[in-house]
Parts: sequence; structure tokens; C-alpha cells
Amino acid sequence: MVVLVTGGLGYIGSHACVALLESGYDVVILDNLSSGKLDVVSRIETITGRKPVLVVGDVRDTAVLKQVFNCHNIAAVLHFAGLKSPSESLSIPLEYFDCNVGGTLALLRAMHEKNIKTIVFSSSATVYGLPEEMPVTEACRAESPINPYGRSKLMAERILRDLAASDPEWRVACLRYFNPVSAHSGGLIGENPTAIPGNLMPYVTQVASGRLPRLTVFGSDYHTRDGTGIRDFIHVQDLAEGHVATLQYLQHTTGFEVFNLGTGTGVSVLELISTFEQTTGQKIAYEVGPRRSGDVAECWADSSKAERLLGWKARFGLVEMCRHAWQWEQTC
Ligand code: WQD
Repeated sequence: MVVLVTGGLGYIGSHACVALLESGYDVVILDNLSSGKLDVVSRIETITGRKPVLVVGDVRDTAVLKQVFNCHNIAAVLHFAGLKSPSESLSIPLEYFDCNVGGTLALLRAMHEKNIKTIVFSSSATVYGLPEEMPVTEACRAESPINPYGRSKLMAERILRDLAASDPEWRVACLRYFNPVSAHSGGLIGENPTAIPGNLMPYVTQVASGRLPRLTVFGSDYHTRDGTGIRDFIHVQDLAEGHVATLQYLQHTTGFEVFNLGTGTGVSVLELISTFEQTTGQKIAYEVGPRRSGDVAECWADSSKAERLLGWKARFGLVEMCRHAWQWEQTC
């Protein structure tokens, strides 16, 4: 079975390609090289012993989409291509809506023309905005994300929901990621932040390697057990395997479903720092600064629905996340 992976050279997309190839799927990658690098293709091949097909192009380019679906016998799509920084989305919202919503629309139209009606969509826990209860379940209100990034993901989900309601042949799953971190245990693929990382884990690894002098902890006055933010950090390999489990689920289910992909465990900023130090032996210099605007105090998942319906559960704990993240930092 041939699966199209949009954004397949990116951080999560590349790990999904590895999981798909290892599960026996054939993979066609569509990527515009805006963040993914060309050498990721050979790294995926080295890890799996199988080579994905790469088509360089943008998911908004209808001619490229037409070519991909005409030249390859695509049966399903994993849609990762998009912009993913909540803070950046505040300054360039049009880019985020054009890419994340416009790109999804162009893809769905091209799929529809070729009668391809199975899609797994890369969504985000940011659709929950300020979660009303913890842990977050799929039944929690997802009405008011607090940034254009989250709103673009929610809009795309609503388009998919309406599409599935209009045609019972569609098989749609939206996966709401919590905090993807770390890197493939083989050390060949991982996160490649182009600028100074905005996310915690890559910032910690760059402090550990000396690329950055110290970490600023954004606030220690939250009403949490140690005053710092609490998140559900999930290993990117667990996330990737969740996509394969979802694809298998969609083979025997039609309609629209949403799943939280997290570990179900909340970890604070200080707890991540201390676990990283204990796991790697690297000291992390940090200072406490003011809260970052737009941050929520705590957000972690109830992923029991994914466990029940997909038979999927995160395997890696925080120690392995830190170990594999540090291993990647030392190689890239
Ligand atoms: C985590 C915690 C910060 C950096 C992410 C992704 C977003 C979405 C949801 C998928 C917070 C603190 C961070 C730093 C810090 N994922 N922190 N110093 O904001 O939860 O969002 O997950 O769609 O795309 O960005 O993740 O890693 O930025 O922050 O103290 O230098 O670490 O305040 O409590 P966040 P993050």
C-alpha cells in the first residue's frame, strides 16, 4: 500500500516515514524543503533499508499534487506539511492560514478528484486553547485556540469533519499532538531547529552542548507543584507509531475521529531539566525569567481513547526522551 506523506522530510514526518516503511508500507514524500533537508531521504533509507520516493514541491501547488496522484498509486495520505510555531503565527498569521488551511484544502481537492479518501491529519493540542480540565480528553472544548497556529489547525479539523459528514466514504483521523520531543533512537534523524529553538527540549540540548549559554525558565509562579509549566512530552517515535496505528484503524473504519497523542503524564520544566541532567550527566545552566505570553500553566493528555481504539500507547519515558535527544544533539 502506497502512502503519501506531505512534509515527510520534517521532524515528525520523517519519523513517520521510518515507521511506515518498517511496517511494510511504500512511501511517497511531498516536501517543499522549507524546513526538511534533502539528506533525510538517505537517512530514512539507512534506518529502514527501504527508500521513499521524494517529490519536491508545495502542498498548495495543484499541478504538483495532480502529478503526484497521477504518477503514484496513492491509497492514503499522512498530512504533516505546515507551519508549526505558535509564537511565529502571531506575527505572520496569513502565512499560517494559507499554508495550514489552504494547503489542506488543496490536498483534499486533489485527493477527492482521484477518489482517495483516507487521511491522517497532523493536528495539535493547541486547538484546546486554555484547557478547562486536566488531563485533556477529546471531549474537552476545542473552540478557542489562543493563537493563529492553533486556529489554523482547528479550521483544518473542521473542514475534515464537514467533508466526512458529506461523504460516508471518507476515512479521517485528526491526531492532536501534545509536546513532541527527542529523536530517533538510531541517532540519524531528529529535530533540526533552524534558528534559536523556541521549544524547551532542543533549547536544553543546545545548552548541554554549549551552543547556547543558559536556559531561561519562563516563570516559576504558576500554580503547579514546583511553580513551572507542566507539559505532556511525548517521544517522536511514539508519535510516529501512533500514525501507523491510525492508518491501520482507518482500514476498517469510515467517518471522522479525533485522538489525543500524549503519554498521559505531566512533567514540569524543572523536572525535565533534572531528568536530563541525571540521564546525560550534563549540567544545565538556567535562570528564572518572566512567564512567556501565551503559555498555559499545565497541559497533559488523556490518551485512553487512542489506547482503546487504536491499540496504541506511548512506550518511551522521559529518560529515553532525554537520552535520545542528547544523542542527536551530539551528532547533528
Ligand atoms: C514547554 C514548556 C514553556 C522554552 C509546543 C509546541 C506546539 C504544540 C504544543 C504541536 C512551557 C517552557 C520553553 C524555554 C521554558 N505542539 N519553556 N523555556 O509551548 O507547550 O508548545 O507543544 O503542535 O507546536 O510549540 O512547548 O517546548 O515551547 O514549552 O521555560 O526556553 O517549557 O514555558 O512551560 P509548548 P515549549
